[in-house]
Amino acid sequence: MLEIRDLHAKIADTDTEIIRGLNLKVEAGEVAAIMGPNGSGKSTLSYILAGREDYEVTSGDIIYNGESVLEMDPSERAASGVFLAFQYPVEIPGVATMEFLKTAMNEQRKARGEEELSIPDFIRKVKEAAGDLKIDMAMLKRPLNVGFSGGEKKRAEILQMKLLEPQLCVLDETDSGLDIDALKIVSDGVNALRDPNRAVVVITHYQRLLEHIVPDSVHVLYKGQVIKSGDKSLALELEENGYANVIEAAA
Ligand SMILES: Nc1ncnc2c1ncn2[C@@H]1O[C@H](COP(=O)(O)OP(=O)(O)OP(=O)(O)O)[C@@H](O)[C@H]1O
Ligand SMILES: [Mg+2]
Repeated sequence: MLEIRDLHAKIADTDTEIIRGLNLKVEAGEVAAIMGPNGSGKSTLSYILAGREDYEVTSGDIIYNGESVLEMDPSERAASGVFLAFQYPVEIPGVATMEFLKTAMNEQRKARGEEELSIPDFIRKVKEAAGDLKIDMAMLKRPLNVGFSGGEKKRAEILQMKLLEPQLCVLDETDSGLDIDALKIVSDGVNALRDPNRAVVVITHYQRLLEHIVPDSVHVLYKGQVIKSGDKSLALELEENGYANVIEAAA
């Protein structure tokens, strides 16, 4: 489903390379975890997958469903089923969350050649998904993310993901700032998205999240490269010993 081949990327208009020969393969049905020290390039990778213009791919390729996405703009990537939940969700003043969801869902449906949702159908779907995530409908009348607490923003991201039914989901530190109950709710939300036709990439610092969302593969990112891959036991090993051993072994 997703194959990143020897990717090199720098900050646009500078010579600062952040991603330095990154290889990663994630199959449909797979849940992959990306871990790695602060500043190793995890969020940058998610921005590059989303197609942000602040970064420039200098070589290598990102293949999604057999095709390179490098020439696709962010909206085309979203329409093709790529969903990114960022570490710092953006606030959208002036757009009620409900309105945002309706537009996003209908755009997605249009891209799949489906009809627009009727208002009652839309409201039913949102109520159901919000209920699962313990999100108060009153919150959804407010502008998206504006004044939402850290944990509320993360829940709102998962709500969008549930409703948009993407094929490739990338979650950047969706666990940070969540209280214990919310962590469980959000993890259940992610687990409910597990599907043979969908791939999920979770970026996290903590083994704790991976107890709830048990990953099929774990990859360690360091200085813009995947320096080690393994199964869920790798996350346990990192939790116990930190990154030093893995970094040393890769050097
Ligand atoms: N626009 C930018 N200008 C300058 N430096 C940048 C820019 N974007 C990213 N970087 C640098 O690139 C490196 C990777 O950043 P990134 O946010 O991808 O790390 P991360 O792995 O997500 O870290 P964390 O675990 O702290 O979230 C950092 O050293 C960061 O300072
Ligand atoms: Mg980050």
